[in-house]
Amino acid sequence: MGDFSDEAIVGAWHENAAPWIEAVRSGSIESRRLVTDAAIVSVIRRLRPATVLDVGCGEGWLARALAPLGMRVHGIDAVPGLVTAARQAGGGTFECLSYEAFAAGAPVAPVELAVCNFSLLGDGATRGVVRRLAALLSPGGTLLIQTLHPGFAVEDAERVEGWRAGSWAGCGEAFGRAAPWYFRTLDGWRALLAEQGFRLRTMHEPRHPATGAPCSVIFEAEVGPGRGH
Ligand SMILES: C[S@@+](CC[C@H](N)C(=O)[O-])C[C@H]1O[C@@H](n2cnc3c(N)ncnc32)[C@H](O)[C@@H]1O
Repeated sequence: MGDFSDEAIVGAWHENAAPWIEAVRSGSIESRRLVTDAAIVSVIRRLRPATVLDVGCGEGWLARALAPLGMRVHGIDAVPGLVTAARQAGGGTFECLSYEAFAAGAPVAPVELAVCNFSLLGDGATRGVVRRLAALLSPGGTLLIQTLHPGFAVEDAERVEGWRAGSWAGCGEAFGRAAPWYFRTLDGWRALLAEQGFRLRTMHEPRHPATGAPCSVIFEAEVGPGRGH
Protein backbone atom coordinates (compact mmCIF):
# COMPACT_ATOMS: atom_id res chain seq x y z
CA MET A 1 0.00 0.00 0.00
CA GLY A 2 1.48 3.37 -1.00
CA ASP A 3 1.35 6.69 0.76
CA PHE A 4 -2.20 7.90 0.17
CA SER A 5 -2.12 11.60 0.99
CA ASP A 6 -2.28 15.05 -0.57
CA GLU A 7 1.45 15.44 0.21
CA ALA A 8 2.27 12.26 -1.74
CA ILE A 9 0.50 13.72 -4.79
CA VAL A 10 2.71 16.81 -4.81
CA GLY A 11 5.80 14.66 -4.16
CA ALA A 12 5.07 12.54 -7.23
CA TRP A 13 4.56 15.63 -9.40
CA HIS A 14 7.92 17.03 -8.26
CA GLU A 15 9.55 13.78 -9.40
CA ASN A 16 7.75 13.59 -12.74
CA ALA A 17 7.83 17.20 -13.94
CA ALA A 18 10.24 16.53 -16.82
CA PRO A 19 8.43 13.54 -18.42
CA TRP A 20 5.09 15.33 -17.89
CA ILE A 21 6.27 18.39 -19.85
CA GLU A 22 7.49 16.11 -22.62
CA ALA A 23 4.26 14.06 -22.68
CA VAL A 24 1.97 17.12 -22.79
CA ARG A 25 4.00 19.02 -25.36
CA SER A 26 4.51 16.05 -27.68
CA GLY A 27 0.81 15.15 -27.56
CA SER A 28 1.59 11.60 -26.53
CA ILE A 29 -1.45 11.17 -24.24
CA GLU A 30 -4.15 10.08 -26.66
CA SER A 31 -7.21 11.06 -24.60
CA ARG A 32 -5.87 14.60 -24.26
CA ARG A 33 -4.88 14.90 -27.90
CA LEU A 34 -8.17 13.53 -29.24
CA VAL A 35 -10.74 14.65 -26.68
CA THR A 36 -10.15 16.37 -23.37
CA ASP A 37 -7.92 19.34 -24.37
CA ALA A 38 -10.37 20.50 -27.01
CA ALA A 39 -13.32 19.83 -24.70
CA ILE A 40 -12.16 22.16 -21.94
CA VAL A 41 -11.09 24.87 -24.40
CA SER A 42 -14.49 24.67 -26.10
CA VAL A 43 -16.39 25.14 -22.83
CA ILE A 44 -14.21 28.12 -21.86
CA ARG A 45 -14.51 29.65 -25.33
CA ARG A 46 -18.32 29.53 -25.06
CA LEU A 47 -18.23 31.27 -21.66
CA ARG A 48 -15.89 34.04 -22.95
CA PRO A 49 -14.32 35.10 -19.63
CA ALA A 50 -11.88 38.02 -19.68
CA THR A 51 -9.84 36.58 -16.81
CA VAL A 52 -9.03 32.95 -15.97
CA LEU A 53 -7.31 31.27 -13.03
CA ASP A 54 -5.73 27.96 -14.08
CA VAL A 55 -5.50 25.96 -10.85
CA GLY A 56 -2.80 23.29 -11.00
CA CYS A 57 -1.67 24.69 -14.35
CA GLY A 58 1.20 22.25 -14.89
CA GLU A 59 3.41 23.34 -17.79
CA GLY A 60 0.82 25.88 -18.90
CA TRP A 61 -0.65 24.51 -22.15
CA LEU A 62 -4.13 25.82 -21.35
CA ALA A 63 -2.96 29.42 -20.94
CA ARG A 64 -1.24 29.13 -24.32
CA ALA A 65 -4.51 27.87 -25.85
CA LEU A 66 -6.60 30.67 -24.28
CA ALA A 67 -4.27 33.65 -24.76
CA PRO A 68 -4.95 33.90 -28.53
CA LEU A 69 -8.68 34.12 -27.65
CA GLY A 70 -7.99 37.35 -25.75
CA MET A 71 -8.24 35.90 -22.25
CA ARG A 72 -5.85 36.87 -19.46
CA VAL A 73 -4.71 33.72 -17.68
CA HIS A 74 -2.94 33.32 -14.35
CA GLY A 75 -1.70 29.83 -13.46
CA ILE A 76 -0.78 28.42 -10.08
CA ASP A 77 1.00 25.14 -9.34
CA ALA A 78 3.12 23.76 -6.51
CA VAL A 79 5.90 22.35 -8.68
CA PRO A 80 8.68 24.82 -9.57
CA GLY A 81 9.87 22.81 -12.59
CA LEU A 82 6.41 23.02 -14.15
CA VAL A 83 5.91 26.71 -13.32
CA THR A 84 9.31 27.60 -14.82
CA ALA A 85 8.45 25.71 -18.01
CA ALA A 86 5.09 27.49 -18.17
CA ARG A 87 6.73 30.91 -17.76
CA GLN A 88 9.28 30.16 -20.46
CA ALA A 89 6.57 29.16 -22.93
CA GLY A 90 4.35 32.19 -22.14
CA GLY A 91 0.63 32.74 -22.69
CA GLY A 92 -0.03 34.00 -19.16
CA THR A 93 1.44 34.70 -15.76
CA PHE A 94 2.43 31.77 -13.57
CA GLU A 95 3.09 31.44 -9.88
CA CYS A 96 4.48 28.70 -7.68
CA LEU A 97 1.71 28.25 -5.11
CA SER A 98 0.46 25.15 -3.34
CA TYR A 99 -3.25 24.42 -2.96
CA GLU A 100 -2.72 24.52 0.78
CA ALA A 101 -1.34 28.10 0.64
CA PHE A 102 -4.06 29.10 -1.84
CA ALA A 103 -6.77 27.66 0.42
CA ALA A 104 -5.25 29.49 3.38
CA GLY A 105 -5.77 32.83 1.62
CA ALA A 106 -2.58 33.59 -0.35
CA PRO A 107 -3.32 36.73 -2.37
CA VAL A 108 -4.67 35.95 -5.85
CA ALA A 109 -6.67 38.40 -7.98
CA PRO A 110 -10.40 37.71 -8.49
CA VAL A 111 -11.27 36.15 -11.86
CA GLU A 112 -14.35 35.49 -13.97
CA LEU A 113 -13.53 31.83 -14.49
CA ALA A 114 -11.44 29.27 -12.60
CA VAL A 115 -10.46 26.02 -14.29
CA CYS A 116 -9.05 22.87 -12.71
CA ASN A 117 -8.01 20.62 -15.58
CA PHE A 118 -7.25 17.16 -14.20
CA SER A 119 -5.64 18.95 -11.29
CA LEU A 120 -7.94 18.23 -8.33
CA LEU A 121 -6.53 14.84 -7.45
CA GLY A 122 -6.57 14.83 -3.66
CA ASP A 123 -8.96 14.95 -0.75
CA GLY A 124 -8.55 17.83 1.72
CA ALA A 125 -6.56 19.87 -0.79
CA THR A 126 -9.44 19.66 -3.27
CA ARG A 127 -11.99 20.81 -0.69
CA GLY A 128 -9.72 23.69 0.33
CA VAL A 129 -9.29 24.84 -3.27
CA VAL A 130 -13.02 24.71 -4.04
CA ARG A 131 -13.84 26.59 -0.83
CA ARG A 132 -11.35 29.38 -1.65
CA LEU A 133 -12.63 29.60 -5.23
CA ALA A 134 -16.15 30.27 -3.95
CA ALA A 135 -14.77 33.42 -2.33
CA LEU A 136 -12.45 34.42 -5.18
CA LEU A 137 -14.68 34.18 -8.23
CA SER A 138 -16.37 37.36 -9.46
CA PRO A 139 -20.18 37.46 -9.07
CA GLY A 140 -21.65 35.23 -11.79
CA GLY A 141 -18.25 33.62 -12.30
CA THR A 142 -17.73 30.02 -13.31
CA LEU A 143 -15.81 27.08 -11.89
CA LEU A 144 -14.85 24.31 -14.33
CA ILE A 145 -13.45 21.02 -13.08
CA GLN A 146 -12.38 18.43 -15.66
CA THR A 147 -11.59 15.08 -14.09
CA LEU A 148 -11.64 11.33 -14.69
CA HIS A 149 -15.20 10.14 -15.31
CA PRO A 150 -16.42 8.46 -12.11
CA GLY A 151 -18.35 5.89 -14.14
CA PHE A 152 -15.26 4.72 -16.04
CA ALA A 153 -12.19 5.63 -13.96
CA VAL A 154 -12.11 2.70 -11.55
CA GLU A 155 -12.32 -1.04 -12.10
CA ASP A 156 -13.70 -2.08 -8.74
CA ALA A 157 -17.41 -2.83 -8.68
CA GLU A 158 -18.14 -0.89 -5.50
CA ARG A 159 -17.08 2.54 -6.75
CA VAL A 160 -16.65 3.66 -3.16
CA GLU A 161 -15.18 7.10 -2.55
CA GLY A 162 -11.58 6.98 -1.31
CA TRP A 163 -7.90 6.88 -2.18
CA ARG A 164 -6.62 4.80 -5.12
CA ALA A 165 -3.13 3.96 -6.31
CA GLY A 166 -2.08 6.02 -9.30
CA SER A 167 -0.82 4.85 -12.67
CA TRP A 168 0.86 6.42 -15.68
CA ALA A 169 -0.90 4.06 -18.09
CA GLY A 170 -1.29 5.79 -21.44
CA CYS A 171 1.31 8.46 -20.65
CA GLY A 172 4.52 6.82 -21.90
CA GLU A 173 7.53 5.04 -20.41
CA ALA A 174 9.57 7.81 -18.81
CA PHE A 175 7.58 8.27 -15.62
CA GLY A 176 8.58 7.27 -12.09
CA ARG A 177 6.39 7.05 -9.00
CA ALA A 178 2.71 7.64 -9.81
CA ALA A 179 0.65 10.06 -7.74
CA PRO A 180 -2.16 8.49 -5.70
CA TRP A 181 -5.57 10.03 -6.24
CA TYR A 182 -8.82 10.35 -4.37
CA PHE A 183 -11.77 8.81 -6.21
CA ARG A 184 -15.11 10.62 -5.95
CA THR A 185 -18.42 9.40 -7.29
CA LEU A 186 -20.67 11.78 -9.25
CA ASP A 187 -22.70 12.27 -6.08
CA GLY A 188 -19.49 12.90 -4.15
CA TRP A 189 -18.47 15.67 -6.56
CA ARG A 190 -21.98 17.16 -6.47
CA ALA A 191 -21.97 17.15 -2.67
CA LEU A 192 -18.51 18.70 -2.48
CA LEU A 193 -19.52 21.55 -4.81
CA ALA A 194 -22.76 22.16 -2.90
CA GLU A 195 -21.02 22.10 0.49
CA GLN A 196 -18.60 24.78 -0.64
CA GLY A 197 -21.36 27.03 -1.98
CA PHE A 198 -21.48 26.14 -5.68
CA ARG A 199 -24.54 25.42 -7.82
CA LEU A 200 -23.93 22.88 -10.59
CA ARG A 201 -25.02 24.43 -13.90
CA THR A 202 -24.30 21.45 -16.07
CA MET A 203 -22.03 18.48 -16.65
CA HIS A 204 -20.23 17.76 -19.92
CA GLU A 205 -19.11 14.25 -20.89
CA PRO A 206 -16.57 14.44 -23.74
CA ARG A 207 -16.50 11.14 -25.62
CA HIS A 208 -13.82 9.23 -27.46
CA PRO A 209 -14.49 9.57 -31.20
CA ALA A 210 -13.88 5.87 -31.91
CA THR A 211 -15.27 4.06 -28.86
CA GLY A 212 -17.94 6.56 -27.77
CA ALA A 213 -16.89 6.11 -24.13
CA PRO A 214 -16.71 9.24 -21.97
CA CYS A 215 -13.05 10.25 -21.53
CA SER A 216 -13.78 12.63 -18.65
CA VAL A 217 -16.44 14.71 -17.00
CA ILE A 218 -16.44 18.51 -16.84
CA PHE A 219 -18.42 20.05 -13.99
CA GLU A 220 -19.59 23.58 -14.79
CA ALA A 221 -20.62 25.39 -11.61
CA GLU A 222 -21.31 28.89 -10.35
CA VAL A 223 -21.25 30.44 -6.93
CA GLY A 224 -24.69 29.95 -5.41
CA PRO A 225 -26.83 32.72 -3.95
CA GLY A 226 -25.66 34.06 -0.61
CA ARG A 227 -22.21 32.47 -0.84
CA GLY A 228 -18.80 33.78 -1.72
CA HIS A 229 -19.40 37.53 -2.02
C1 LIG B 1 -2.45 16.04 -14.18
S1 LIG B 1 -1.53 17.52 -13.87
C2 LIG B 1 -2.55 18.67 -14.78
C3 LIG B 1 -1.78 19.89 -15.18
C4 LIG B 1 -2.55 20.85 -16.09
N1 LIG B 1 -3.76 21.33 -15.47
C5 LIG B 1 -2.84 20.21 -17.40
O1 LIG B 1 -4.00 20.12 -17.80
O2 LIG B 1 -1.87 19.79 -18.09
C6 LIG B 1 -1.92 17.90 -12.15
C7 LIG B 1 -1.27 19.17 -11.65
O3 LIG B 1 -1.75 19.47 -10.33
C8 LIG B 1 -0.68 20.00 -9.58
N2 LIG B 1 -0.94 19.80 -8.15
C9 LIG B 1 -1.33 18.65 -7.54
N3 LIG B 1 -1.46 18.84 -6.21
C10 LIG B 1 -1.14 20.14 -5.98
C11 LIG B 1 -1.09 20.95 -4.79
N4 LIG B 1 -1.40 20.44 -3.58
N5 LIG B 1 -0.77 22.25 -4.91
C12 LIG B 1 -0.49 22.78 -6.15
N6 LIG B 1 -0.49 22.06 -7.30
C13 LIG B 1 -0.81 20.76 -7.22
C14 LIG B 1 0.52 19.21 -10.05
O4 LIG B 1 1.75 19.84 -9.76
C15 LIG B 1 0.24 19.07 -11.54
O5 LIG B 1 0.83 20.11 -12.28
